Amino acid sequence: MTEIFFSPWLISRTLRQLFGREDQYFKAKTEIRGFINKLIEPTLSKVSEQLKDKNNFLNLATDLKNRGIFTTQNVEDHSVQIVFAAFETTANTVAYTLMLLAMFPEYQEKAFEELCSLFPKSGDFDVSYSDIKNLVYLDLILNESMRLLTPVPIVARQTMRDVRLSNGIFIPKGVQIAIDIFHLHRDKKIWGENADTFDPEHFLPHNLQEKHPYSFIPFTKGIRNCIGWRHALISIKIILTKLLRTYKFSTSFKFEDLDFVEDLTLKFKTVPLLDIQRRDC
Ligand code: HEM
Repeated sequence: MTEIFFSPWLISRTLRQLFGREDQYFKAKTEIRGFINKLIEPTLSKVSEQLKDKNNFLNLATDLKNRGIFTTQNVEDHSVQIVFAAFETTANTVAYTLMLLAMFPEYQEKAFEELCSLFPKSGDFDVSYSDIKNLVYLDLILNESMRLLTPVPIVARQTMRDVRLSNGIFIPKGVQIAIDIFHLHRDKKIWGENADTFDPEHFLPHNLQEKHPYSFIPFTKGIRNCIGWRHALISIKIILTKLLRTYKFSTSFKFEDLDFVEDLTLKFKTVPLLDIQRRDC
C-alpha cells in the first residue's frame, strides 16, 4: 500500500508485473485476506436471528449481507479496512508513547504517581470508564505523544469545488492535496519554541486557549475523520495504564537521534530498544 501511495501507477496489475512487484503484492494480499477471513468466517455463516448485538460492526455487516445489500466481498473489504485502520495506528501509538516516556523519564514518573494514586493495590486490576476520565496526566502525555510522533503523518483530499484558503492561496476543483499533519504539529508559530521536543504541558488548558481547533489533528477533523478515535483513545489508555503501573521503561536511545522513514504511518529508520523492569508503588 505504501509503495502504491508514493508510486500510484503501481495500482495497475500490468505495471506491477512490469516492475516486478506483482509477486510480493499478491503474497501480501493473500496473507491479509487469509487472516481477515479467519476472523470473520464464524460470524459470516450466521443467520440474522443469531446476530443479537447490532452495535457490533461485523454483525451489522453480516446482517446487510444476509439481506442482499452487501456481498461477501463487501463484508471482507470493510473488515480489512477496520482492522488495518485500527491495528497499526493503535499499536504504534502505544509503542511510541512508551518510547517517549523512556526517553523523558521525569514524565514517566509523573504518570506513575498518578497511576499509583488511582490503582494503589498491586496485582492485576480492572480499568473502568470512570478511571479513564480520571487519568488527567496520562491524557496530557498521550496528546503530546500524538502531537510529536503523529501516528498518521499525512492524509490526502481531493477538492470538490474551487477553494480559497485564508492565506489567499487558490486551489481549483479536482486537485489532490496532502495535509502534512507531521509538520503542522511541529509548527513553532503554533506550538512555540519547544515545538520539536516532548513536553506534556503543551496540552495544559491555558496553553491551548489561543490555539486553532485544527492545530492538533491526529485523527483529522471534519466529515471524513477517523471513525475509531474514541475507541482508540480508550483502548490506548487502558493498555498504557496497565503497562506503566506494572513496568518501568528506559532506553539509552536519544530523542534527537530518531530518524523518520517516508511511510503511510510514522516509522523510524532504527527502532529504539527499551529496557523493561517490573515495579510497584
Ligand atoms: C491512535 C489510533 C488511530 C489514529 C491515529 C487514527 C488516525 C486516522 C486518520 C488520520 C484517518 C484518516 C482520516 C482522514 O482522511 O481525514 C483515519 C481513518 C480511519 N480510521 Fe483511524 N486512527 C486510529 C485508530 C482507529 C481505530 C481504533 C479504528 C477502528 C476501530 C479506526 C478506523 C478508521 C477508519 C475506518 C478510517 C477511515 C474513515 C473514512 O475513510 O471515512 N481508526 N484514522
